[in-house]
Amino acid sequence: MSRQTRAIIHTQALQHNINVLKTLAPASSTMAIIKADAYGHGALITAQTLQSQVSAFAVAITEEAVTLRQQGITAPIVVLEGPHEPRDCDLAGQHQLTLVAHSEAQLQWLDAASHPVDLWLKVDTGMHRLGLEITRVPVLVQRYRHLLNERSVMVTHMACADELDNPFTTGQTRQIEQLAKKVGLPLSVANSPAMLHWPTTHAQWNRLGIALYGANPVYPTPSGVVLHAAMTLQASIIAMHQVPKGEGVGYGQTWKATRDSRIATVGIGYGDGYPRHCPNGTPVLVHGQRAPLAGRVSMDMLCIDVTDIGQAKVGDRVELWGAKLAIDEIAGYAQTIAYELMTRVSARVPRVLDSAPLN
Ligand SMILES: Cc1ncc(COP(=O)(O)O)c(C=O)c1O
Repeated sequence: MSRQTRAIIHTQALQHNINVLKTLAPASSTMAIIKADAYGHGALITAQTLQSQVSAFAVAITEEAVTLRQQGITAPIVVLEGPHEPRDCDLAGQHQLTLVAHSEAQLQWLDAASHPVDLWLKVDTGMHRLGLEITRVPVLVQRYRHLLNERSVMVTHMACADELDNPFTTGQTRQIEQLAKKVGLPLSVANSPAMLHWPTTHAQWNRLGIALYGANPVYPTPSGVVLHAAMTLQASIIAMHQVPKGEGVGYGQTWKATRDSRIATVGIGYGDGYPRHCPNGTPVLVHGQRAPLAGRVSMDMLCIDVTDIGQAKVGDRVELWGAKLAIDEIAGYAQTIAYELMTRVSARVPRVLDSAPLN
């Protein structure tokens, strides 16, 4: 039997999550962020699953958008980083992509492009990563008015929306609202944490990423709505060992048996995207029970202590994160965020679709 390591993609979870999130801002248009292969879930399948429920998709770079077009996705696609070089403007024209311009250089490229391209404008309201300088925007809008059309939107990105007591979000929102009113453009502000927790950021367009995939951007604070994990990372037990008290497990023997132990070796490792720095004790679900990680994660395998799970045996499926074990919890053990875990599931792991109804 071949290796049983899989990322199961729950299409009903994607559909449920987007519906629930949309109810928070029923008057807004919703954009599903499917960059980085839909946060590791598979951009094509995510786009196919959600195309009737969202008004547009967004990716980071032109190449991602062109691939989706070549795969038959016809919905509007917004390229969040805009053109990286003038040629991207031509590609956008050919493939009917919407480009976000965050710099004056990009506006010049768009001005010189051979085809008209739908354009959004990104404004820096304090994150200082991408965006036009706020004071320059009125003059730039005037200068490049001919590049804008009725589909153009002003967008900014929230730096701290996952910090629920940080007033920075309110300040960013106020600034962009004033500017959008002044120049007469519709607005897009909210990402997932803002959508869930900052209703004043809801605007004509909301941009939803992580919550769509069922993670909680403000974990462990409750998200306030029921979201379902869209990915379950699964593998199987490929070997079992009796490890006598006092013996070590794995590279560096960083886990020592404090009693005679049963150790299961699971066919997944950091080469598949399971974080190497998950410490001893990180839970893995076996027969619905939590088995602690025992020893360092290696490239293709990891070991867990199943001494207390009598029925565990070779061939059993285990869950690394997903429907029954929150990815946010594992991200905490790995000292990272769910975004990173999802996007790092490697190409070696087959994505397998599950369209079964949610329990
Ligand atoms: C510009 C922009 N908008 C929206 C999002 C979606 O954010 P989230 O996944 O927190 O919903 C991202 C994600 O990084 C982004 O870069």
